[in-house]
Amino acid sequence: MSKVTVVGAGNVGATCANVLAIKETASEVVLIDIKEGLAEGKVLDMFQTETLLDIDTKLTGVTNDYLKTAGSDVVVITSGIPRKPGMTREELIGTNAGIVKSVMESVIEHSPNAIVIIVSNPMDTMTYLAAKTSGLPRNKVFGMGGALDSARFKCYLSKALDANINEIEGMVIGGHGDTTMVPLVSKATYKGSPVTDFISEDAVQQVVADTMVGGATLTKLLGTSAWYAPGAAAAYVVESILKDQKKVVPSCVSLEGEYGQSDICIGVPAVIGRNGVEKVLEIKLSDKEKALFEESAAAVRKTNDVLKEIGVL
Ligand code: NAI
Ligand code: 2OP
Repeated sequence: MSKVTVVGAGNVGATCANVLAIKETASEVVLIDIKEGLAEGKVLDMFQTETLLDIDTKLTGVTNDYLKTAGSDVVVITSGIPRKPGMTREELIGTNAGIVKSVMESVIEHSPNAIVIIVSNPMDTMTYLAAKTSGLPRNKVFGMGGALDSARFKCYLSKALDANINEIEGMVIGGHGDTTMVPLVSKATYKGSPVTDFISEDAVQQVVADTMVGGATLTKLLGTSAWYAPGAAAAYVVESILKDQKKVVPSCVSLEGEYGQSDICIGVPAVIGRNGVEKVLEIKLSDKEKALFEESAAAVRKTNDVLKEIGVL
């Protein structure tokens, strides 16, 4: 028996809940929102899908009623506003910081043992805020961004190589921002061989650039930020926890000296299992990747500083 709560029944939250339900990852999924009727409506729609797909996940949709979320094993926080075309994720901080802080309090009050995954943007800073204000150990509160950015990296690599996306390995670390993410070219492979064996340096650099603005590209096309891959990426992390898969997922983790950083939450390869973040993997980076990661950390710290400036930390 496992129970997952998804906070925020908007595009990303509802997609995450739907993927969890369709894959029967958890026995119960609760969707909660502040907007009257939204979670109830989405859950009713999903429940009617169950008979068509022959699935059997218990679904509950509620407006603001955290009692229904009590005893969750995992909580995914997607509540907040998404960016519009031309906006950066960082510009959302003023609104989303207040939302994430108050949601965290309600979540922990009702599910003190839950593992909490932060999705709301700017995600690295929201994770830092959630970690600082909740006092939860770092294995139990971390952020999702790298799973999505890595999927986008693999997408653009598969297009450049004209290869099956599932035969590509690729990982993105660093901040979840247009200028802060670090696609690891040195670790990108196609059937075990470096991708640089198959495509030119220029093509690789184009893939890196496309990956970094992957979210902005979709926001421009859709008029709001993406949701299918973001929701599936959050569900992927939940699955690794509940099934104790111990997958290595680049995740936004509170660092304690790893990669030369502390007092920051930023994307690094992490082993995700039943206890949440079970280990931070320290992989060997090229000198260029090391320098880019350090620049990324400096930028994330700058956004974290805003939390003090606006008085939420
Ligand atoms: P959306 O606007 O479709 O949904 C957000 C939902 O949050 C709305 O239904 C709203 O009513 C709800 N909400 C607001 N305050 C709340 C509160 N206090 N309690 C409960 N619910 C509340 O937005 P979307 O597209 O689902 O994005 C959600 C967040 O996720 C945004 O901040 C977006 O930037 C972020 N995001 C992060 C990604 C990542 O990889 N970390 C990827 C994609 C989006
Ligand atoms: C995305 O990457 C905006 O974080 C959101 O799609």
